[in-house]
Amino acid sequence: MPPSTAAPPPADDRDPLRAALLAWYARHQRPLPWRLDPSPWRVWVSEIMCQQTRVASVIGYFERFMARFPDPEALAAVDLETLYPFWAGLGYYARARNLHAAARQVVTEYGGEIPSDPEQFGALKGVGRYTRGAVMSIAFGHRVPVVDGNVVRVLCRWFNVADDPKTPGVQRWLWATAGALADGPQPGDLNQALMELGATVCTPRSPSCLVCPLASACQGRRAGDPERLPTKTPRKGPRAVARSVALSRTAEGHIWLVRNPDAGLLGGQWALPGAEGEGPAPLAALGLTVADGPPLGQVTHTFTHQRWALTVYAATGRPQVEGAAEIAAHPEAALDGLALGGPTLKALRKVGVAVAARRGAGRT
Ligand code: ADE
Repeated sequence: MPPSTAAPPPADDRDPLRAALLAWYARHQRPLPWRLDPSPWRVWVSEIMCQQTRVASVIGYFERFMARFPDPEALAAVDLETLYPFWAGLGYYARARNLHAAARQVVTEYGGEIPSDPEQFGALKGVGRYTRGAVMSIAFGHRVPVVDGNVVRVLCRWFNVADDPKTPGVQRWLWATAGALADGPQPGDLNQALMELGATVCTPRSPSCLVCPLASACQGRRAGDPERLPTKTPRKGPRAVARSVALSRTAEGHIWLVRNPDAGLLGGQWALPGAEGEGPAPLAALGLTVADGPPLGQVTHTFTHQRWALTVYAATGRPQVEGAAEIAAHPEAALDGLALGGPTLKALRKVGVAVAARRGAGRT
């Protein structure tokens, strides 16, 4: 059904469903740490972390982060190198950098107090429409919507929308519909109820319609097979990329690493020196001498658009990598304090270099 005809229900229909959602949420919400004390800072940090990985995996990262950075001032006072280890394993360091920059804005522009005005909050670094809606509704009670992947699924099923949710028309409809739902009492709980329902009941596969508070109103269910929604755009698989990387040590045994420039894939993160291509030749081009004998090991790492097959070679020499932000040799004991990229974490583990187990929780 085109979204223009999938109008949100009129207000008097909507109210019982809002009430049903809120009642369901009051009973069935997961006891997440930021829900027990939903201060603006805790909600903000949790929502950024939840954009990176599943809610259940976020809890440990969240508790460690809050113990070290209990307010924006604490985060604003440190440099990025201090922050990165608290983000290692969550991926997307750009989000950590934005949060850090935004914390500094909160300190310099608002005296350390997170602004409760949606316009002001939305103007902070890295705060997009989703984060703005989540923090403003959950922490301050503003009647503003959120639309994330879970909300998309719930709304497309509820209103039987079969058009691609990525298209601008459906996006407009999603935000308008979520906006109509949020425009009532307890907007923060309502928004979280929609997300929670998508995460725990209206799941991508095998939704639990029998326990869903919206089941009687769900047009996708009535039309049959709600699992078919939302419509997915066929995506090309990630491109296979072969890369050679070097484990090159100094005379003291320190490991040469290269820090990527901030912009781009694995931005700002430390990596084993390497280059695209197979065999030792790409490493020779970095000024490294590859040892004779077989490679030390192989690992794979999949990003959204690329699937890397990394071959790790033992090598000697100091790497010369054009465009690197930094090149330095680090003692093994210092590796846990660095923002190491996912592929490098895997490669180091594969070849027997110990790096902390809690890292690398991201996708493989
Ligand atoms: N996913 C991201 N943020 C969430 C929240 N506040 N509640 C439920 N699921 C979420």
